[in-house]
Amino acid sequence: MQPVLLNDFKRQWSEIGAEVRGAVDAVGASGWYVLGTQVEGFERDLAQFWGLKHAIGVASGLDALEIGLRALGLRCGDRVLTTPLSAFATTMAIVRLGGVPVFCDTDANGLLDLTAAEAVLEAEPGIRFLLPVHLFGQCLDLDRLAALRNRFGVTILEDCAQSIGAAWDGRATGTVGRLAATSFYPTKNLGALGDGGAVLTGDAELATQVRRLRDYGQSAKYRHDEIGWNSRLDELQAAILAAALLPRLREWTLRRQQVAAAYTAGIRHPGVHLLRPAAPGTSCEHLFPVRVAAAQREHFEAHLKSRGIATGRHYPILIPDQQAMAGVAYARHGDLGVARALAGGEVSLPIHPQLTAEEVERVVTAVNEWTVR
Ligand SMILES: Cc1ncc(COP(=O)(O)O)c(C=O)c1O
Repeated sequence: MQPVLLNDFKRQWSEIGAEVRGAVDAVGASGWYVLGTQVEGFERDLAQFWGLKHAIGVASGLDALEIGLRALGLRCGDRVLTTPLSAFATTMAIVRLGGVPVFCDTDANGLLDLTAAEAVLEAEPGIRFLLPVHLFGQCLDLDRLAALRNRFGVTILEDCAQSIGAAWDGRATGTVGRLAATSFYPTKNLGALGDGGAVLTGDAELATQVRRLRDYGQSAKYRHDEIGWNSRLDELQAAILAAALLPRLREWTLRRQQVAAAYTAGIRHPGVHLLRPAAPGTSCEHLFPVRVAAAQREHFEAHLKSRGIATGRHYPILIPDQQAMAGVAYARHGDLGVARALAGGEVSLPIHPQLTAEEVERVVTAVNEWTVR
């Protein structure tokens, strides 16, 4: 029995290998490996795909967040409202700049609870930044996000690492904030064959500053205007993304949406609750999260494993509960009970563009045949 994997990079390779080899050849023959025409070309393609004017390639999603926050003026001690349920990188970017994360609870789907966020912003007028995450590929309500921005004057950086291709009422995630940050980590919807990330914005001045920051704070060769990063997207990764991956992204997103639709229609189990987006059609289906009772989670995972089906957990430990946060300055509003309950019972089912119809059916059947202990 072939295992059903969370990501199937070998199958992906059989689909993209020829184009990747062509991209590697082109970069090798060019003799130019860092910040050249491949990065420029990919940045143009990505900006066009996203519908934002400027895309700036960087070395990772974490760097995109960190450089983005610096470009937006985050200073030591600034408070940043964010979510406790995300990849650790979301908070790490704030902390590495000396910012103070302020956590508020999530909604039942695991995304930042915008009603709770509004209450926090009312209670703490000193909060100048908001760092929301479009988790699982699901779009936060962009109208409500814009309303928070307008009412409280908070500067928003949207973490779009999981949401490339997701849209609210036709508007892409990342278009409400002044900046968007995304990741090309291999498991992402637009995953490179290594690390990479990008900052996107409609603001030309901010774009220039991000370009400077990613390259030692240089405004011209050997002219350093500020302390920056070495965070450059490689020519190789840019060429591979542009030639083999970005051109497939729309089709692959559709495929993910078909898999999600098949799971949604097929999974009928009283003990398995699907975390589906409130507004249908808004998700790029990066992950397919479900929730079971915390006491049943291991049993559910073991059952699926016995059927050859891989599962994930996104995320089992809340960010403020991580060991690394001991001794770090942060604040928390409420007990984060909704997010914590989700961290205890969430299980991610396989979803990727290379899944076959037969595998999708196998997952549906296995979930439905789970016997709760
Ligand atoms: C929501 C979120 N933010 C940030 C990151 C960080 O991206 P990277 O791994 O490219 O640094 C990730 C990916 O791990 C992520 O899922």
